[in-house]
Order: sequence, then structure tokens, then C-alpha cells
Amino acid sequence: MLRILVLVSLFLANANIAVAHWGEYAPAKGSCPSNFQFVRPADSLAPEEVSWLEKRHEKTNPALISFLKRLNLTGVDVENLVNGAENPINIALTFSGGGYRAMLAGAGELAAYDERTQSDHQGLRGLLQASTYLAGLSGGSWLVGTVTMNNFTSIDNILSSSSIWDLRASIFDPTGILNVLGQAIYYTGIFLAVQAKFLAGFEITLSDLWGRALSNQFLRDFPGDGAGLTFSSLAENLQTPFYNADQPLPLITALSRAPNTGSINFNSTVIEFTPFEIGSWDPSLSEFAKLKYVGTSLDNGKPTGSDCVTSLDNAGFVMGTSLSIFTGLFSLVNLLNLPPIIRTLIQKFVITPYTELNCVLASWTPNPFYKSSGGDFIHSQKNLYLADGGLDSQNVPLESLLQRNRNVDVIFAHDNSNNVDQWPNGKALVATYQRQFVPQGEGIAVPQTPNTNTFRNLNFTARPVFLGCEASNLTGLAHDATHVPLLVYIANRPFSYFSNTSTYKLSYSEDEKRGMIKNGYEIVSRKNGTIDDDWETCVGCAIIRREQERKGIPQTDQCKQCFSKYCWNGQEYSGPSRGDNFGDESLQISADKYNSNNVAGAGKWNPSLLKSIPKELEDY
Ligand SMILES: *[C@@H]1O[C@H](CO)[C@@H](O)[C@H](O)[C@H]1NC(C)=O
Ligand SMILES: *[C@@H]1O[C@H](CO)[C@@H](O)[C@H](O)[C@H]1NC(C)=O
Ligand SMILES: *[C@@H]1O[C@H](CO)[C@@H](O)[C@H](O)[C@H]1NC(C)=O
Ligand SMILES: *[C@@H]1O[C@H](CO)[C@@H](O)[C@H](O)[C@H]1NC(C)=O
Ligand SMILES: *[C@@H]1O[C@H](CO)[C@@H](O)[C@H](O)[C@H]1NC(C)=O
Ligand SMILES: *[C@@H]1O[C@H](CO)[C@@H](O)[C@H](O)[C@H]1NC(C)=O
Ligand SMILES: *[C@@H]1O[C@H](CO)[C@@H](O)[C@H](O)[C@H]1NC(C)=O
Repeated sequence: MLRILVLVSLFLANANIAVAHWGEYAPAKGSCPSNFQFVRPADSLAPEEVSWLEKRHEKTNPALISFLKRLNLTGVDVENLVNGAENPINIALTFSGGGYRAMLAGAGELAAYDERTQSDHQGLRGLLQASTYLAGLSGGSWLVGTVTMNNFTSIDNILSSSSIWDLRASIFDPTGILNVLGQAIYYTGIFLAVQAKFLAGFEITLSDLWGRALSNQFLRDFPGDGAGLTFSSLAENLQTPFYNADQPLPLITALSRAPNTGSINFNSTVIEFTPFEIGSWDPSLSEFAKLKYVGTSLDNGKPTGSDCVTSLDNAGFVMGTSLSIFTGLFSLVNLLNLPPIIRTLIQKFVITPYTELNCVLASWTPNPFYKSSGGDFIHSQKNLYLADGGLDSQNVPLESLLQRNRNVDVIFAHDNSNNVDQWPNGKALVATYQRQFVPQGEGIAVPQTPNTNTFRNLNFTARPVFLGCEASNLTGLAHDATHVPLLVYIANRPFSYFSNTSTYKLSYSEDEKRGMIKNGYEIVSRKNGTIDDDWETCVGCAIIRREQERKGIPQTDQCKQCFSKYCWNGQEYSGPSRGDNFGDESLQISADKYNSNNVAGAGKWNPSLLKSIPKELEDY
């Protein structure tokens, strides 16, 4: 061990620059802005989001017009409809959790909407450029975070990059199991960053290590793997595509504990991160704080001292917060090779029972919402602990997009969850549907969703399905039903690749990675347009539906046909299970052929781990 540390020190002496950047992970102190509102009630959109939306709509409106024009919507005056809308038509794309599986399948799905993707088949490419919001949770947040932080790069660019998403080696052992020195250096980099934060007086948890480790895969083009790169910098840096509204607004969600309890469940508070703010629309918090200044000690929304803190919102930490379940895997790392402080941190958390949860939580302390209103759970806590966004079963992040203030017309919901054999069954949507009826769901309306048995047996996990097609059917859920988004649900399924890899598969060969992404592309493009000639047109019908309903414009026959094909008619399936049914010439050969190396899941990182996965994590 001593020898390794000496070698590491020698290495570090030659790598002063890297070391300097690693230290940038520590939050910085400076003077507070004067007359500044750090915390605001969640009664409207952030003023910054409102002005950003104006800029974004100048781009999405023309992009949407040319997109829709290409779709041959007969009898629809596209220009009038889009330009004449009282609120511009807002399209949202959202990507579920599910580790690297969700990130990679989601990447292919995203690429199918991106006009920059090189492909002979036009399909839905261009929809991304016409979208307003891009949401992700857990593995989906890795996708959204990677693309957004890296200058809104395209998936094609990521595939040709040597620095982003090199997943060949496990994140716990990127230099190979036998390369003890390399591993020590890797962990030393992580360690120095996390130690710097600790020495600056901030609480650190395994999520810090996890966020730093992820950054080695996602943010390697930045100095010190983005040790000093914040999520809020997107809104501050005049050069970012986000600043210039050249990309949709990224939304990343995580969870805080349920009111008056120590646990994470259905009643937990859904926390959203935008480049502007952190906070929640849920009644249990109903406030937002300026993300840039999180880390500042606030009492009732006012700084308790003269110093304000910035840079706690490290971009990798935001991604690591949304996916904190994996921090438990640090227990699998060979502790002997680690610097002592990291070893202590891991040991401390490993002996804490999972149910006490701190081991998987990210500390966003001091809590910016301390005493800012009410006496309820979050407001009474000096610490703010956040957990993986999918732990309440809402593994497809919809809550932020369903907010009436956001005026979203249509949500493309990509479900890459693990419900049955690592395929989704719609459970995530059912959870969000049901949550509208508990106090935490106040003010939210979610269209009726089929039960999971229906999702699977009516092929809604094998092909896309539209939910909430008729606003007039939603009047029992919302008084202004034409503002409840229509949902386009798109589930992970195989075409050219068995994309149901284990959530705990931590390394992907280049072929595996490309196979996952290509399959995702085929899911959204309906096998590159070979399954249904009308698919793109039908998506167009879904996009314009709410605006037509608000204006009282009758649906065209073409769109009616589309809706009879893609809308759920409200009937539940009650017969026997039909098992996996992917139809449409999906892969007919055994999954083992494709996944022979990873079916067990965690691979060399102790497959028995899967047996000890807590019940809460079963659906990832
Ligand atoms: C629209 O119609 C043109 C001409 O018939 C056809 O070439 C094109 O493929 C159609 N586009 C879509 C998306 O259906
Ligand atoms: C679909 O298009 C993608 C991208 O061009 C390509 O890689 C893939 O092989 C195509 N798949 C099929 C089934 O044609
Ligand atoms: C970011 O992307 C834009 C548009 O592709 C490009 O012009 C610019 O050079 C890129 N900036 C960086 C720092 O890569
Ligand atoms: C959620 O809260 C409601 C009422 O506040 C309660 O009835 C229900 O049991 C809670 N659910 C869970 C999972 O704690
Ligand atoms: C909408 O309402 C009609 C009439 O009540 C009903 O027949 C239909 O099944 C409903 N559709 C959905 C999706 O619930
Ligand atoms: C589901 O797909 C299978 C295979 O394509 C088909 O045989 C079956 O009729 C479909 N079921 C429904 C309800 O569409
Ligand atoms: C993937 O799905 C196939 C068939 O649906 C199943 O046989 C296989 O076990 C699944 N793989 C994993 C890793 O769950």
C-alpha cells in the first residue's frame, strides 16, 4: 500500500495541473448578491425560464412548422396553427431511469429525433430541434446531462468521440482489475476532489464519489473531468447552446424523503433541477431556490452570514444525485487499494443498513429551504438529502412536464425500466397516474393509463401508444383538460438487439454500446420507417391535437385514422398473459446469443449483489 501511495505521489507531482482542477470540486465562497431572492414560492415558472422560453420559441416554432410540413398532414394549416397559438406548442421528451441500459437505449431514441443524426431515413428527425423540454431521471439523466453539458453534442458525435462514454471497463475499475497503480490514481483523483469539498466544510457522501466517477465517463473533455463545472453554468455561460436556446431545457429529477417520514416512497417530494433552480412543485415543498447559490447557509430564504456559496451544483454531482442507487456498488470495490479517507467513507456507509438510506443519498446541505415556510418536514431540516429519482416507482420523469405552468402539449415518454425480464411494463406511468390522487399530486392531471397487464398484453410495450387522446375524456381530472399533455408512450423492446441488459451491467463493449443505441433508434423510427408508413404523420397528429382542441378545430380524417391505430381506447385487457410479444419481426433468436456476457448482470462485480438488491430498487 505504501508503495502505491508513493507512486501515486510521484505521479501527482507530475500532474499538478490535473490536481489543481480536481480541487475545483470544492464549493467556493464569495460575497452575496444584494437584493437577491434566493428562494421563491412555486406559484409560477422562474422568471429566467420565462425569458429563456421566449428565445427558445423563436427557434422551435419555425422548426416545428418545417417538421410538420414534411409529415403530409392533409387539411392542416400548419403555419396558422403553430404561429397562431396563444401559447406556443411545447413538446417534451423524457427518458426513464435504468442505469446504462436506459442511457444507451435512450441515446438511440434521442438520436431518432435529432436532425443531426446521419441516416438515410428521415423519420422523426428534427423533432428534437422543435422541442422545448428534455427531461431525464437516473440513467436518463446521464443521457440528458452528457448531451447538455458537452455543448449539446449529438449521439453521432458521442459515438465517434474517444473521451465520452468509453464504457468498456467498469466505472469502479476503469483501468483494469490488475492495474493497481492506475486504479489508485483514478481513485486518488476522485478522492482529492471529494476531500477538497470536505475540507471546505461540506458534507460528503458516496454520491460525491459516484458523481466524480461518472464524470470520468461523461465530462472527460473538461479540465479535471469537470471538477469545477456546474449545472447552473449552462445559464451563465454565454457560449452554451442552452444559454442561446439552441437546445431544449434540461430537467433532471431526484427525490427527497416523504413528509414526516424518513423514507422514500410514493409520497416523497419530487425535486427538479433546471439550470436556474432546484426545488419542487409538490405541496410538501412548493418552493424553488436559485441553483447557483445552493450551498449558501440560508434561514427563511436569507443568508445567515455575509458569504454566499457557489459551485455546490457540480454537473457530475447533479447526475450522481439522480442516480444515487449505484453508490451501494462502492461496497464491491477492493478497499485495499484505496486512499484511506475514501476507504473510511465506504466502510462507514457499507455498514449502515440500506433502509437507513443515508448510504445512497446525496447531501445538498445546507438545506436552502430551511425555515423558509411552514413547519413541515423539509423546511424543518438543516440538511437536504436527495435520492435517486425513480425510487417512488415513477421511473419516467413526468411530474415536471405535467405542471400546468409549463403548458406542455405532448410528452414523448421513453420507458427503459426493468419490470419484467428487464423490459418495461408501463408501471412507471401507472405510478404517476395514481399519484395525482394523493395529496402530493395536487394540481396535476395525468391521462388514464392502462394497467400493466394491459400494457403488456395489448402490445403497448411492443409498439408506441398514445394516451389521453381526447381532452374531452379528461374533464374529470382537470377543469382545463385541453392543457393536460397527450402522452406518447414508447417502451424499450428488441429489434436488432436485446436491449434488456441488466441495470447493474457496468461495462459495455463498443459493439454492445452501438447495438443498444441502434436498437433505440429503431424503436422510435419504427424500424427505420419499415413498419408503418403513417407513423411520422401520426406523431404529427399527436403534436397538434391539443392546440386543435383548444381552438375547436375538428380532427382530419387522416388524423382520426391515426388515432384509431395508436390511441388506447380505454379498454383493459383481462385475459391470460400472452408473455413477451414483440411482433413485427423483432429478434426471434435467443437473448443469450446477444447477452451471453451480461445476463447475470453485475458481471465480475459480484453477481450475488443482485440477490441483495432492496425491494425498492427492483424496478430499475
Ligand atoms: C409525404 O409525401 C411524399 C410524396 O407523396 C412522400 O415522398 C413522403 O415520403 C411523405 N412523407 C411522409 C413522412 O409520409
Ligand atoms: C436503421 O438506421 C440506422 C441508422 O441509419 C442503421 O444503423 C440501422 O442498421 C437501420 N436498421 C434497420 C433495421 O434498417
Ligand atoms: C459547440 O457547438 C457549436 C455548434 O455545433 C459549435 O459551433 C461550437 O464550436 C461548439 N463549441 C465547443 C466549445 O465545442
Ligand atoms: C401517502 O400519503 C397518504 C395521505 O397523506 C397516505 O394515506 C398513504 O398511506 C401514504 N403512502 C405511503 C406509501 O406512505
Ligand atoms: C373516452 O370517452 C368515451 C365516451 O365516454 C369512451 O367510449 C372512450 O372509451 C373514452 N376513451 C378513453 C381513452 O378513455
Ligand atoms: C400483438 O402483436 C402480435 C404479434 O404481432 C399479434 O399477433 C397480436 O394480434 C397483437 N395484439 C393486439 C391486441 O394487437
Ligand atoms: C431479455 O429478454 C429475454 C426475452 O424477453 C429474456 O429471455 C432474457 O432473460 C432477458 N435478459 C435479461 C438480462 O433479463
